Amino acid sequence: NEGSLWGGRFASGPADAMAALSKSTHFDWVLAPYDIRASQAHAKILHRAGLLSDDDLATMQDGLSRLADDVRSGAFGPAESDEDVHGALERGLIERVGAEVGGRLRAGRSRNDQVATLFRMWLRDAVRAVATGVLDVVDALIAQASAHPDAVMPGKTHLQAAQPVLLAHHLLAHAHPLIRDVQRLKDFDKRAAVSPYGSGALAGSSLGLDPEAIAADLGFDSAADNSIDATSSRDFAAEAAFVFALIGVDLSRMAEEVILWSTPEFGYITLADAWSTGSSIMPQKKNPDVSELTRGKSGRLIGNLTGLLATLKAQPLAYNRDLQEDKEPVFDSVTQLLLLLPAIAGLIRTLTFHEQRMAELAPAGFTLATDIAEWLVRAGVPFRVAHEVAGACVRVAEEHGVGLPDLTDEQFAQIHPALTPAVREVLTVEGSIASRDARGGTAGTRVAEQLHRLAESAAGH
Ligand code: ARG
Repeated sequence: NEGSLWGGRFASGPADAMAALSKSTHFDWVLAPYDIRASQAHAKILHRAGLLSDDDLATMQDGLSRLADDVRSGAFGPAESDEDVHGALERGLIERVGAEVGGRLRAGRSRNDQVATLFRMWLRDAVRAVATGVLDVVDALIAQASAHPDAVMPGKTHLQAAQPVLLAHHLLAHAHPLIRDVQRLKDFDKRAAVSPYGSGALAGSSLGLDPEAIAADLGFDSAADNSIDATSSRDFAAEAAFVFALIGVDLSRMAEEVILWSTPEFGYITLADAWSTGSSIMPQKKNPDVSELTRGKSGRLIGNLTGLLATLKAQPLAYNRDLQEDKEPVFDSVTQLLLLLPAIAGLIRTLTFHEQRMAELAPAGFTLATDIAEWLVRAGVPFRVAHEVAGACVRVAEEHGVGLPDLTDEQFAQIHPALTPAVREVLTVEGSIASRDARGGTAGTRVAEQLHRLAESAAGH
């Protein structure tokens, strides 16, 4: 069997169902360019160890670079007989340079250290692409926050009217977790930058190869200290899958709000035509599908993480074939995020905010009650009393079917003598917002500083 990397001790080839079960070329082919790069590095190390002549090295490097071209152009691909990407590429090399030279490449390495290395290489690149996509979403949020420096909105807790806030403050509250996700991706990369190459099947290599040199050649910071760990651990993959799932969750929280805000009941936003869809039966519909797919795919990203963790949890050391199941969930999370991130960035960037409507709703539901209580505290009233008094204001206003600013001076005085007409200075949405001017608060000055810092931090990544 030409495409096989083993067989010496077997009298027959695998049964069809065995081969079908075993096969991974339909998903691990994305590792092919990385496999060839690592083989090019490995060939140099074999040569340096005296295991490959000058001529053989030249022949092998020529074969590998032609193979890389053919993989890139699609002229070379996996055959029915290939079990995995590693076997397929060895077949491809032998087809190009013959078995005498091509058969020397596999010395001192195993698919176990190969696949662990290639998966790390692939993931390190993928994580950079995901980080770029996340930063684009952050950029869209920053652009909207900058475009609406003064717009106000009802801030909510428990989805109930709470306190008025600046729209920019709210939008940036979605940008911060995303920036932290980018930091997590960078942090992941530090731990992932350790090369398993040279670990062999599990015990290391006896051929005098130099794992440090190959690690440096492949862009890793160092070679692994423990060959058993290096070939069997997939915590790097789980860590990346976690950050991918968390990005999904962070995007989904934002998507949920876009969905709510675009309903007529909220009426905060209108979605751009390019980032919404229609209905096949109801002509009036404009649906928030980008947000719904974001919410839906976040479930899938969580599933990919939990599936991977379940695959890992009971495996004895070292390599087990279970580990072949490590790649699809992680590949899928990256595929989904790279679809999602540009769409959600486009959606956010093109939202139209209805500032008037949001401003009207900002004081609704007695959202200025806390301002009355805190005004009383500044006037020397204990907060416990102030809270009661402000509550009484809400009750009276509710009884009369009016808002807090509509209470008369007499009504205020009747509720509590400390409630002089001066309380009205905090009974506007603008006054309330401007008063929350400690670091982290929603006052315009603070939000402007925050925006500045966030934009600098985003630009630094
Ligand atoms: N295709 C396998 C994987 O993805 C690597 C091959 C290791 N096979 C083996 N029998 N040791 O994990």
